[in-house]
Amino acid sequence: MKLITAIVRPERVQQVKEALFQAGISGVTLTRVSGHGGEQEIIEHYRGSRVVIEFREKVEFKMAVSEPFVDVAIEAIRRAAHTGEVGDGKIFVQTLDRVVRIRTGEQDDEALTPVNETKRQPVLK
Ligand SMILES: Nc1ncnc2c1ncn2[C@@H]1O[C@H](COP(=O)(O)OP(=O)(O)OP(=O)(O)O)[C@@H](O)[C@H]1O
Ligand SMILES: [Mg+2]
Repeated sequence: MKLITAIVRPERVQQVKEALFQAGISGVTLTRVSGHGGEQEIIEHYRGSRVVIEFREKVEFKMAVSEPFVDVAIEAIRRAAHTGEVGDGKIFVQTLDRVVRIRTGEQDDEALTPVNETKRQPVLK
């Protein structure tokens, strides 16, 4: 299991959401963040110059996935978030020790598998 954190441009959020959904990723957390990715602006003054470290609005996606979904998720995010310009974002992958689904007590891969629709009681109206 891995925890994937992806930082992307806000204008690509919709595309990333759709790509993840189509790739079968069913659990994701999204946060607006402020990030710095190395870009600097040099402001000239009459007595020298000043370097401004810029923080830009970005969006962070976090998702815990089982091993077969790691590369699938990374490729989906890359395809959806890529413009080719600096500042497209980054993807971080961390090993995940444990996952627990609170409702059922299921753990790890079981806790990451979406609840099977057929297990649900049909609602009679
Ligand atoms: N090393 C890092 N650690 C934590 N967050 C980072 C790191 N690098 C980038 N980020 C986050 O990702 C956002 C986008 O980074 P950015 O796309 O500029 O990465 P980059 O490696 O500089 O790539 P590029 O060359 O395309 O600019 C940043 O605003 C920041 O939130
Ligand atoms: Mg950068």
